[in-house]
Amino acid sequence: EESERESMLAVNDFALKHFEKNLQETDDGRDIGLSYFLDRGINEASIKKFRLGYSLEKSNDLLNAAKSRGYNEKYLIETGLCIKTDQGRVYDRFKGRVMFPVFSISGKVIAFGGRTLKKDVAKYVNSPESLIYKKSYQLYGLYQAKQAIVKHDKCILVEGYMDVISMHQSGIENVVASSGTSLTDGQIRLIHRFTDNVTVIYDGDAAGIKASLRGIDMLLAEGLDIKVLLLPDGDDPDSFAQKHTSSELEEYISANETDFLQFKTSILLNGVKNDPIAKSRVINDIVRSIAVIPNPITRNVYITECSRMLEIDDRIVALQVNKLFMERV
Ligand code: GTP
Ligand code: MN
Ligand code: MN
Ligand code: MN
Ligand code: MN
Repeated sequence: EESERESMLAVNDFALKHFEKNLQETDDGRDIGLSYFLDRGINEASIKKFRLGYSLEKSNDLLNAAKSRGYNEKYLIETGLCIKTDQGRVYDRFKGRVMFPVFSISGKVIAFGGRTLKKDVAKYVNSPESLIYKKSYQLYGLYQAKQAIVKHDKCILVEGYMDVISMHQSGIENVVASSGTSLTDGQIRLIHRFTDNVTVIYDGDAAGIKASLRGIDMLLAEGLDIKVLLLPDGDDPDSFAQKHTSSELEEYISANETDFLQFKTSILLNGVKNDPIAKSRVINDIVRSIAVIPNPITRNVYITECSRMLEIDDRIVALQVNKLFMERV
C-alpha cells in the first residue's frame, strides 16, 4: 500500500509539472489558460506560488505524456487524472480546464481542481477520493497558509480556489478554502491544529449565507472562536479583493467582521423584529448555537449577550441553553 501511495503521488507530481508546462510553454496553454488567469487579475507570482496549470483540450494529452515517460496507466486512473470507461477507453479527466493542484500539509500534490473556460455543466471538476485524497480531511491552500495562520493566530475560511489565491495576492495569506464540499469536522479539526480563531468569509449570496450559518455551529462545537464577514451581495472574496487595494481589503475585514452572535442575529432577525412567533423562532435557533459551545464561561458570556441583544430574560436563555447542552453530553 505504501508503494501504491508513492506511485500515485509520483504520477500526480508528473501531472502537476505537465499542466504547468502546458500553461507556460504551449500556444494553447498561453492563449487560453494563461490569458484566462491574467484576465482575472491573477499575476505570474501567484501562478507560480499556487502552481497553476492548464490541461490541453485533447482526450489523451496527459495520458500519452505520462505513459511515454513510463508511468503506469493504473495510477493515472487511481488518482483520477484519467477516467476509464466501461468499454475500457481511457481519457484525461480534466481536458480543456485550468488546473489548481491541491497540496497536502507537507506539500505533496494529492488532487486537482479543474475549472472550465466554457459554459460547461460542471464549472469545477475535482479529483475523486482515493488512497491519497480524503476530501473531508483536506483544505485547499493550507500548505501555503499554515505559517501565516500560526503567525496571526487566525485562519480565514473561504469557499473557493480563486478566493484563496486572490487574497494571497492581496497580502492576506492565512486563508484556506473548503472548496465546494460543505465544511466537515475533519477540516475543522485540521484548522484547530494551528489556531483557535476563525473568520468565515463566504460568498455574499444566499448559498454563502446558508453555508456560513451551518459552518458556524460546527466551528462552535469544536470550541473555536468565530467571526463572520458578510461581503456585499454578489461579491466573493476573489471579486472583492480584485476590486480593491490590499489596504482596503484589510480595512474592510477588520471593520466588518462580526462576532457569530451578531451575524446570526442580524441575518435571522432581518424583518421579523416585530413578529413574536418569528422572533421566538430566531431566539431558539440562536440558543441552539450557544448550546454547542463546549466552554462554560464562553457559553455564559453568549447567554448574557443574547439576552441583551434580543431583549429576553437571561435566566430563560440560560435555562434553555443548559437544557440543550445537557442533552448533547
Ligand atoms: P469562480 O467562478 O472561478 O470565481 O469560482 P468560485 O470559487 O467563485 O465558484 P463558486 O463560488 O461557485 O463555488 C465555490 C467553490 O465550490 C469552487 O471554488 C469549487 O471548489 C466548488 N465548486 C463550484 N462549482 C463546482 C462544481 O460545479 N463542481 C464541484 N465539484 N465543485 C464546484
Ligand atoms: Mn483550542
Ligand atoms: Mn457561490
Ligand atoms: Mn465564489
Ligand atoms: Mn468567484
